[in-house]
Amino acid sequence: MNTAELIRKKRNNEHLTKEEILFLVNGFTKNKIPDYQFSAFLMSVYFNGMSKEETSALTEAMLYSGKVLDLSSIKGIKIDKHSTGGVGDKTSLILAPIAAAAGVKVPMISGRGLGHSGGTLDKLESIPGFRTDLTLTEYKNVLKKTGAVLIGQTKEIAPADKSIYALRDVTATVESIPLITGSIMSKKLAEGIDGLVLDVKTGSGAFMQKEKDAVALANSLIDTAKAFNKKVIGFVTDMNQPLGNYIGNWLEVYESIQVLKDGKKNDLTELSLILAGAMIYLGKKAKSLDEGIETAIKILSSGKAFDKFAEIVKAQNGKTDFVIRPEKYPEPKIKEAVKSVSTGYLSEINTYELGMAAIDLGAGRKTKDDKIDPKAGIIFNYKIGDTINKNVVLAEIFSDSKTGVESAKKRIESAVKISKSKPGKPKLIKKVFI
Ligand code: URA
Repeated sequence: MNTAELIRKKRNNEHLTKEEILFLVNGFTKNKIPDYQFSAFLMSVYFNGMSKEETSALTEAMLYSGKVLDLSSIKGIKIDKHSTGGVGDKTSLILAPIAAAAGVKVPMISGRGLGHSGGTLDKLESIPGFRTDLTLTEYKNVLKKTGAVLIGQTKEIAPADKSIYALRDVTATVESIPLITGSIMSKKLAEGIDGLVLDVKTGSGAFMQKEKDAVALANSLIDTAKAFNKKVIGFVTDMNQPLGNYIGNWLEVYESIQVLKDGKKNDLTELSLILAGAMIYLGKKAKSLDEGIETAIKILSSGKAFDKFAEIVKAQNGKTDFVIRPEKYPEPKIKEAVKSVSTGYLSEINTYELGMAAIDLGAGRKTKDDKIDPKAGIIFNYKIGDTINKNVVLAEIFSDSKTGVESAKKRIESAVKISKSKPGKPKLIKKVFI
């Protein structure tokens, strides 16, 4: 096959065969196709898209560039959840122990913070000792023992995604539905799952800000999961404000513990229960989605999910002292308040800016090698539709370093819109695909 001919075909909006896509992906991953040719291919996919069949072929080529885990020696149905990312999105920490306590096996390969959005691995690593770099044998052992395991992508899992993603990042080809689908699904399918719950975010803190784009991505992810005979339920959910109130790594673990142990109820609790319910239903521990959600509610209020969370932390070498007594966690050096300058209703939040403010404080990376401050972040005290009085504390900020404090404060102040008329509350669940 001739690479330039295949690029021309895609440039002219013709369909590529499975063999042609495999040739391109394998050629690039094995350094036989240079960056400049693969960049041209990526850009033609960006402009012309891919059919369902092409997207599945791309996913398959990326999936088999590495190991596909065989979890058949572990009894039970294996279900994971994938979120497209947002601000304060910590549902994995709550739903994994709920679903595992219900008897579903939850093998999770998670990511780090990306752009303004946080990552599950960085959150878990704020628990002293917690290891996210388990070997694949350790991964299986923890899954077998506790029913859930949360690790990072290893060198063996979808290596094509790693090289393609790095090239997309520098060639302005990240925002392409087929390329995002191949990237996400190749990693998820490599985990050895039987089914997947998808949480596609939309709104000011999401990668897909417009609902129509989020729906298109959800459809593409669902079609691809089905092409690989995986059971799937998809949700499009709101990211016009942070999920819960806490943003930043340890702060998000802390809020998850409040939900798991102390019965805290907010939008984070609601979404975690719905997603956990979907996992329980796909894992055949309930006859319907509603029954799955009922089961999730019972498990959460019984305390079994909190016990399971502590068990998973212990199995992955984390210090459970801080899980049991989170108030003992070291205090950040700087704590400041951002106050409201007017009275009215909280009508709009630029959630992307809140995510960036948390990064300014040290909760995320500005360059690849930056070290994260696990204590850094924001507690944002209000939700859209709430009444705000002048001088109330809108947000508390935490950091060990003064460097980003002023810019974080400015970002938070400019991210918040307070109006005289009462706005409607955003709907948490915008669409369900079942
Ligand atoms: N997350 C991924 O893993 N890949 C993408 O392309 C976008 C988000």
